[in-house]
Amino acid sequence: MNEPGINASTRVCGVFGWPIRHSASPAMHNAAFGGYGMNWKYLAFEVRPEKLREALLGARSMGFMGVNLTLPHKLLAMEMMDVLDGTALEWGAVNTVRFEGRAPDGSWHPLAGFDQNHPLELRAQGFNTDAAGLEMGLREDLQLGMAGLKVIVLGAGGAGRMAALKCASAGAQRVHVINRTTARAAEVAVEAARRFPSATIKMDYPSDSVDLLINATSLGLNPGDELPFDSSVFSLSRVGAVYDMIYKPAETRLIAAAKKAGCRTANGISMLAGQGALAFELWTGRPGPLIQMKRAAEQMIYGNECHF
Ligand SMILES: NC(=O)c1ccc[n+]([C@@H]2O[C@H](COP(=O)([O-])OP(=O)(O)OC[C@H]3O[C@@H](n4cnc5c(N)ncnc54)[C@H](OP(=O)(O)O)[C@@H]3O)[C@@H](O)[C@H]2O)c1
Repeated sequence: MNEPGINASTRVCGVFGWPIRHSASPAMHNAAFGGYGMNWKYLAFEVRPEKLREALLGARSMGFMGVNLTLPHKLLAMEMMDVLDGTALEWGAVNTVRFEGRAPDGSWHPLAGFDQNHPLELRAQGFNTDAAGLEMGLREDLQLGMAGLKVIVLGAGGAGRMAALKCASAGAQRVHVINRTTARAAEVAVEAARRFPSATIKMDYPSDSVDLLINATSLGLNPGDELPFDSSVFSLSRVGAVYDMIYKPAETRLIAAAKKAGCRTANGISMLAGQGALAFELWTGRPGPLIQMKRAAEQMIYGNECHF
């Protein structure tokens, strides 16, 4: 027997990751589909990196509308796409795959645009919605655009690199890239300075105040973690707003210290919802309902626990 709301016409999206069971993406997207009354479902699939290519081909052949990719697949997928959108090329990673079909006139369209029979010719187009998701999160929670800001980015891994480059590309006045491994911060700083010469890129703490500090390190995920910056040389009293990409726990040690110092604060759940809302729009052609998706993610991650 079919589950209520699932039948032979249900359209399928999903997320591939390894591991994946913690993911809030099914809750976010299914809430959005439900809100629009769409007969679509979003599922999480545990896909080993060695099986990513097969899984993508399978999803394409079975008529999935699209999939999100999370760790460790975002870089691996770059060479598995038939076409890369400018966002994937810009950030060097794919977090959203849209399956597309070829119409009789030769043009390509999202599969959602084909009514019944899927076309024979299908392709996978790779996008990246992470950087724009961060931008949406900052606007939604802190009412901040990046243009003209002085920013500190803590971390130079995948998320730190993306945050520093995004700030520089969106017109930040100055970006300080700080990371435990200095060589990694230097790589990011060199790339940002080369690609976005109008931004000033620094690799030390500022001596003046900054508008925004973004934590893109994994420090804060565990209860005993220290602060992600060196409090002997820099003080949060010189920061206007703090955005911690970590969203579990809802209040990291950094967020607590920033509140105490009088900064405006937000955690990374709005970035998670932002990248999801943009993926939703790429698949369905409808605006992703950011607030509804954020609420669904909060409900899934925090339950009824108070997180403010
Ligand atoms: N909200 C969202 O949607 C979202 C999206 C992406 C990521 N994130 C979060 O962002 C964080 C970073 O993710 P990522 O993908 O960039 O991971 P990653 O590539 O593994 O990078 C980890 C970063 O954390 C630093 N780090 C790790 N342990 C440290 C320690 N003990 N002391 C100081 N620095 C330390 C690393 O510094 P080294 O270079 O020195 O190792 C590196 O800069 C994670 O917490 C992740 O949950 C959130």
